[in-house]
Amino acid sequence: MTTHPEFPNLHVLDHPLIQHKLTHMRDKTTSTRTFRTLLREISLLMGYEITRNLPLETRRIDTPMVAMDAPVIQGKKVAIVPILRAGNGMADGLMELMPGARVGHIGLVRDPVTHTPSEYLVKLPEAGGRTFILVDPMLATGHSAVHAVDVLNRHGVTDDQILFEALVAAPEGMRTFNEKHPNVQVYVASLDERLDDHAYIVPGLGDAGDRLFGTK
Ligand code: URA
Repeated sequence: MTTHPEFPNLHVLDHPLIQHKLTHMRDKTTSTRTFRTLLREISLLMGYEITRNLPLETRRIDTPMVAMDAPVIQGKKVAIVPILRAGNGMADGLMELMPGARVGHIGLVRDPVTHTPSEYLVKLPEAGGRTFILVDPMLATGHSAVHAVDVLNRHGVTDDQILFEALVAAPEGMRTFNEKHPNVQVYVASLDERLDDHAYIVPGLGDAGDRLFGTK
């Protein structure tokens, strides 16, 4: 895991398996089917790193041999919250990793001209101090990410309880995000070069939703 001098809350997950899978996802000849599988696999691997610091407590159990105080994850079950629709592909991998997790949804649609998001669906598990993992493959302009964290804040989830998982981020998006939410930890497989004139990430991987669902 590497950090970035400009963005202290950004963690780039440089595990070779994550980097290898990301390269296949970027390749424009990769099929929808393979893209979908890779997105699930990569977000599971990223989830393993992201959850590394979840606090533990001990629980008294009996093994067949003795009684012992054994570690379990402290507090309420983690919540996974995909930002629709591309976030769904990442949530699948995290749900495989944490089958007991609660799952919320935030539906945001991006205006093609202004690139600002508006919400059409918000359905979330009770906050109550649990960790929320917000997922969206592309942190591009940062507007959707800011908006989704604002939604969680209104729901009673504080920034320090939120982890943001994306595949690829653009520096412009990280700057916008950090103006509002510098205390949310952001985990990505790559910090790419820039945004193009249509707010797509370069080199990026194209439209993550279209590539995941086979739409145009
Ligand atoms: N959304 C995407 O799916 N891709 C980008 O490059 C930017 C936003």
